[in-house]
Amino acid sequence: MHGIEPDPALLDRMRREWDERARENARYYVNTANEDWTDADFFESGRRNVAEQILSDMGNICQGRDPKQMTVLEIGCGVGRITRALAEVFGKVYAVDVSGEMVARAQQALGDVPNVVIRQNNGTDLTVLGDIRVDFAFSYIVFQHIPSREVIRNYVAEVYRLLRPGGLFKFQVQGCCEVESTPENTWLGVPFSDEDAVRMAEECGFEPRHRIGAGMESFWLWFFKPRSFFSRLRRRFVTRLRRARASLSGPIALHALGHLLPRRRVH
Ligand SMILES: C[S@@+](CC[C@H](N)C(=O)[O-])C[C@H]1O[C@@H](n2cnc3c(N)ncnc32)[C@H](O)[C@@H]1O
Repeated sequence: MHGIEPDPALLDRMRREWDERARENARYYVNTANEDWTDADFFESGRRNVAEQILSDMGNICQGRDPKQMTVLEIGCGVGRITRALAEVFGKVYAVDVSGEMVARAQQALGDVPNVVIRQNNGTDLTVLGDIRVDFAFSYIVFQHIPSREVIRNYVAEVYRLLRPGGLFKFQVQGCCEVESTPENTWLGVPFSDEDAVRMAEECGFEPRHRIGAGMESFWLWFFKPRSFFSRLRRRFVTRLRRARASLSGPIALHALGHLLPRRRVH
């Protein structure tokens, strides 16, 4: 576990409530645009999301590699809507979800897709996958439902552990800071400001190179794992300095530490 341990009662609640949603109408709760999806339209909506968020961004995602040689990870796969589309693009797809009911439906729906591994996880880490290496990680419409900063941060740290150096974790969080998220509600996830997102990246060792949609429901983040040992070391040093600056008061200390820190960029 990385940082503060998530509340076991919350993990249990997320699993139970997403199981209930899956039993009631899994496809609707996965994509609320339709209450009565046909197979074709449902999986086509996943292909559309992949076209918008992945096929349009292959430079950042593949960095010159052949996608068919790449292994990718999806967090919060639901019933496999996006997983199927990912498997059509990449060589191998690992997918996890907190809900056993969702996972069972995804495994059944994707029984004909040989390059996919779908597992139920505990709602906060990726230990169920062991020590696999992934070239790219993705998550969409999942963290916007998680009412805990610790759980989301834990996932980010876990992706860092499995991602190859230089690789990208592209994901979406709730960016609308007016959303009132409470641990009792597993539909409304905790919001992130731009500052929150940058802090989380730095605490976990990532470079938050691009951010789009701050203040909106779909706040997209591009977290890159630094390529070399030295750039990872530098990132940790910068993070510690930022924390030290935040905890110190007094104009001289602030001024002195401020000179050591690189300037932040927002894209
Ligand atoms: C709205 S659905 C989206 C599913 C999929 N990403 C898609 O776009 O088709 C949200 C999914 O996130 C899963 N989920 C919610 N909290 C989770 C957590 N803490 N860890 C893993 N999965 C979670 C739910 O079980 C559900 O399947």
